[in-house]
Amino acid sequence: MQEAKGRGEWSSKLGFILAAAGSAIGLGSIWRFPYIAGQSGGAAFVLVYFLLVFTIGISLMMGEIVIGKKGRLNAVGSFRALGGSRWSLVGWGGVIASFIILSYYGVIGGWTVAYIFKSFTGLMGVSAAGDVARIFQDFISDGWQVVLYQVLFMAGTVFVVFRGVSGGIERLCTFCMPALFLLMILLIGRSVTLPGAMEGLSFFLKPDFSKITGKVFLSAMGQTFFSLSLALGVMIIYGSYLPDDSNILGASAQICFLTFLVSLMAGLIIFPSLFAFSLEPGAGAGLTFITLPVVFAKMPGSVFWSASFFVLFFFAALTSSISLLEVVASYFIDALSWSRRKATLVVGGVITLMGLPSALSQGAVEITVFGLSFLDAADFFASNILMPVSGFFTVLFLGWWIPDAVVDGVVNSGTPGMKERVWLWILKIIAPICILVIFIAGLRW
Ligand code: PHE
Repeated sequence: MQEAKGRGEWSSKLGFILAAAGSAIGLGSIWRFPYIAGQSGGAAFVLVYFLLVFTIGISLMMGEIVIGKKGRLNAVGSFRALGGSRWSLVGWGGVIASFIILSYYGVIGGWTVAYIFKSFTGLMGVSAAGDVARIFQDFISDGWQVVLYQVLFMAGTVFVVFRGVSGGIERLCTFCMPALFLLMILLIGRSVTLPGAMEGLSFFLKPDFSKITGKVFLSAMGQTFFSLSLALGVMIIYGSYLPDDSNILGASAQICFLTFLVSLMAGLIIFPSLFAFSLEPGAGAGLTFITLPVVFAKMPGSVFWSASFFVLFFFAALTSSISLLEVVASYFIDALSWSRRKATLVVGGVITLMGLPSALSQGAVEITVFGLSFLDAADFFASNILMPVSGFFTVLFLGWWIPDAVVDGVVNSGTPGMKERVWLWILKIIAPICILVIFIAGLRW
């Protein structure tokens, strides 16, 4: 971003795509997607997720980018500028949801940091799946360790946001994303050639339609919002730095495609090996952290592969967590005129404290809400309730309150074609009805 014309602008089209894809691709695709898919019936969930990403997901992403491009402010400010103060409540909802998500995102981000170190200290010495699972269990039950790594991860996030999102992180993304991609392709090769891998592939890719329930739809919708960084204002902020003549449809399609691809790749690594090692697909939040080390341990040069993967995974998580902190911090900077330093330090500190119950709830201390661990409950509440509600009002706003501005923002003063008309139709009718129906069905059935 260059600080030209008073307000920043992306230095290139690629800069925007990298930052937006960096925000989208993170723990959501590599940690959350496989474990939620594992718990929600495998391929049936993947199919619903695919459908939602390329209908509601892509439409909402384009819409949010347009809100930012037209409003030229942070989420709350852009909603207010375009729709008046009542609509700024939607932006507020996003700020609150970002608070909650970042609180536990920092915990899992901390796990990635811990696993970089663990790659060198014995994790690769054990190859039985049961031993790797025990190492994971011992780790997450050790409150001090988990909190230490959570604090380290959050300190990294604060540091980057404090320095401004541009420069370093943009350059880092240019290297890390392709490297992660290549490494994942290699791991797919290892995983699908393990004896017994086929069963895992069919669990992940061959849908059993009888498994599709309202709950599966709700989980897939939560995963769509979470993985694409929607409904919180991230894309509004990033869109507000876009030059006037940008191709929003093309950019959104690329970001959605990349995110879906990385999720698919994560599944192609995890499920074949899971079945090959007779692990449980519904194992929950530890799935990625238990399965992958077993795969690495079976490769020559295991320490190198394991450490490299967790370093890249950590950077993928960091480029997402900085976008979450940016949403909250930029509100305090714009609305309360706090300095960037004060906003990032105070907000980052408070969010880290709020993350402590999540950090400890994985085995160190018993903290449950409605039968879920505190972390799972926070995740369920943010992804399956707050995000759909905020997404619902955002599509209503786009489709019914500012449809002309929306279309204009995409065609850059040209004439709308077929694609734009379909998009508007999705925003007006399909998306609100789908979100509402899935939301109600998912909570009841
Ligand atoms: N999309 C990010 C991920 O998948 C998480 C995120 C959600 C980031 C919402 C910003 C906003 O890891």
